[in-house]
Amino acid sequence: MTKIAILLSGRGSNFEAIARSVASGLIPAEIVTVISNREEAGGLARARALGLNAQFVTSKNRTRESFDRELAAALKGCRVDCVCLAGFMRVLSPEFVRQFPAKILNIHPSLLPAFPGTDAQRQALEYGVKFTGCTVHLVDETVDTGPVVLQAVVPVLDGDSIESLSARILEQEHKIYPEAVKLLVEGRIRIEGRRVIVRAE
Ligand code: GRF
Repeated sequence: MTKIAILLSGRGSNFEAIARSVASGLIPAEIVTVISNREEAGGLARARALGLNAQFVTSKNRTRESFDRELAAALKGCRVDCVCLAGFMRVLSPEFVRQFPAKILNIHPSLLPAFPGTDAQRQALEYGVKFTGCTVHLVDETVDTGPVVLQAVVPVLDGDSIESLSARILEQEHKIYPEAVKLLVEGRIRIEGRRVIVRAE
């Protein structure tokens, strides 16, 4: 069974969506660990409540290299095959990414390459786009640039606030993230240049 790890820093609703899909058998994998760099992350408490292995690895006052080394060691200790970033608010070093080639997924709340970085929903509102959405992508050595696995489009409505738009995007995140994890776990993702080609079931 494929072993997956979830890395998060906060609420963890995407983690929960993945966990539900694992529990229901949609994703043929096992969540072997949930790691947070913030002790107070809601997602970490939720992982514990679900009886999963949950670890806190502090990132405070540390170099990226030192944190990433401990993180990689924790993942290797659990023999992790795939890593899912789910609201993980740290940039991973190229050295870390190279240890899990084409095996790290991230979810971003915009249609990349539009609005990378933080505050993607605010950026979309301020720019005035009529549609935005979310993207699941493979993580490469730079931020929010890796090959796109799945995207979902979400309309921006005239009366939207950051909160209402974020909530509409989040609903779609919870659909496409488990679907993308399933594709990766089932070995149905092939990369051609920058393009992800998905093999049909
Ligand atoms: C999501 O909007 C995700 O796209 C972004 O961080 C947020 C995490 O939310 N990367 P949650 O912790 O999964 O609820």
